[in-house]
Amino acid sequence: MSESIDTTVGKTMDEAAYAAMNEALRALICGVPHLTANLANASALIFGTLSDLNWAGFYLREGDRLVLGPFQGKVACIEIPVGRGVCGTAVAQDRTQLVEDVHAFPGHIACDGASNAEIVVPIHARGAVVAVLDIDSPLPGRFTELDRRGLEQTARVLEEELSALL
Ligand code: SME
Repeated sequence: MSESIDTTVGKTMDEAAYAAMNEALRALICGVPHLTANLANASALIFGTLSDLNWAGFYLREGDRLVLGPFQGKVACIEIPVGRGVCGTAVAQDRTQLVEDVHAFPGHIACDGASNAEIVVPIHARGAVVAVLDIDSPLPGRFTELDRRGLEQTARVLEEELSALL
């Protein structure tokens, strides 16, 4: 199963690389009826594929809070109120947050002091935001519009393949 999954660390991500990662993700989770296992593998795939990350994972919505889900990286805060931090803002606005400098983001929640840039992408089910994909980097300005497009496509794959589980 894993032979076809390219998780080369440090690879430069262009559109083709994102398309390959997102198809690898689809193959990895398609038909697997376990949400935690799928999100754990998704976080490992992303963390192993994108360069210069220190955290990649998920927060899952429970009412007016986000609760820590599967991730790769250092231990992280467990609950984030909707509307707070980068993650809570992504949910409240239902919009990807691409943050070049987390220290300039009002209310940023510092889980790992090494983080300098962050991207948070909402994930939907039944017409609502039910989770976010959160990725941190120690490199200021690490994430670009190309990353936004690629990771929003990652979120679409998760929505399509996990709609019954989210
Ligand atoms: N920085 C996030 C908190 C989660 S950690 O990055 C893993 C935020 O401000 O919402």
